[in-house]
Amino acid sequence: MKIAVLPGDGIGPEVTAEAVRVLKAVLGSGQAVELVEAPIGQAGIDSAGDPLPEATLRIARAADAILFGSAGMPGDEAIPFAMRPGASLLRLRQQLGLFANFRPAFLFPELIGASTLKPEVIEGLDLMILRELTGDVYFGEPRGTGTNARGEREAFNTMRYSEPEVERIAHVAFRTARARKRKLCSVDKANVLEVMQLWREVVTRVGAEYQDVELTHLFIDAAAMQLMRAPKQFDVIVTGNIFGDILSDAAAMLTGSIGMLPSASMGAGTKGLYEPVHGTAPDIAGKDLANPLAAILSMAMMLRYSFGLAEQADRVEGAVRRVLAEGLRTGDIFQGGCRRVGTREMGEGVVAAVRG
Ligand code: NAD
Ligand code: IPM
Ligand code: MN
Repeated sequence: MKIAVLPGDGIGPEVTAEAVRVLKAVLGSGQAVELVEAPIGQAGIDSAGDPLPEATLRIARAADAILFGSAGMPGDEAIPFAMRPGASLLRLRQQLGLFANFRPAFLFPELIGASTLKPEVIEGLDLMILRELTGDVYFGEPRGTGTNARGEREAFNTMRYSEPEVERIAHVAFRTARARKRKLCSVDKANVLEVMQLWREVVTRVGAEYQDVELTHLFIDAAAMQLMRAPKQFDVIVTGNIFGDILSDAAAMLTGSIGMLPSASMGAGTKGLYEPVHGTAPDIAGKDLANPLAAILSMAMMLRYSFGLAEQADRVEGAVRRVLAEGLRTGDIFQGGCRRVGTREMGEGVVAAVRG
């Protein structure tokens, strides 16, 4: 097992270190695992003058799986796109062809009181957001800045999907739904955008091959509303890159905290990039305050998706459940009567539970 570890910036290194500790604990000495760490984001700029150094990309390409922390710093937006720390992640996803991003929003029953939503709305919540990851307005050309005919400064991006891009993510979505509760909701903006009209048409056509899966469609605005009103109506949601980015952060709050949401980014094979959905959290970085559970749960997804180690993945998820039941809480999921712990102690708790 060859794993590239790219901790990145902000809380990325803190939460990734805990994921790696849990990984070592769950594999024990029985499994040969090679971990290769490499800089990305601001760390890449500092060490090699590039947010995605050539050597890091090479290591990522050679690996069976990639554990990623987070990248990006406040004020990044002002830096040209190619040199922006946060953009390193976009380049990595694109270079490795990781077009399917799984973001499961699962409520641990112990955290039912940590969410801002009413318990009955979220009890038993288990949904999968499948976000297309290498197309859309994130990568569409033309993009840039310029001056319009009136001499005013302007900027533009292009929302763009080709038919094959929609087809391949649709197939992944239907197959994912098939392995779950056989319900798929495709989210678009077909009432306004041609690109989303194509999206809906192609998803509907692919759906004919999956008669056992119930397909529905929602516009993104209504989907955001329904996700807050009655999230349990959903099983699998498939959507484009930008809508999926937004909907998945919203879904995080159903589970109590953005610090709980893991993700897996897959391409055609079993190679994947695993990362928490949250960012670098500059407000709490370096203070041992970050919740490492999203990173740890992302590592469990790696065991399952890239290495077929379902039993070990179950053990990690079970261990997370156990530390929550024991009352360990980082600040973001703190509830009265629980024990407030830091990043490190939470990680140690999961390690102990995995061994236990
Ligand atoms: P963020 O997710 O970093 O933080 C949002 C809020 O959630 C903050 O209050 C933060 O303290 C809290 N939070 C996030 N993760 C947490 C955790 N594990 N435990 C406890 N609290 C947590 O989003 P942002 O502030 O919009 O972005 C900060 C930077 O991160 C930006 O540069 C952005 O581009 C980048 N970013 C990177 C990724 C990534 O690398 N995958 C994802 C999102 C944002
Ligand atoms: C995410 C992040 C990234 C995205 C940023 C940091 C480029 O928000 O992974 O959700 O928009 O995809
Ligand atoms: Mn995001």
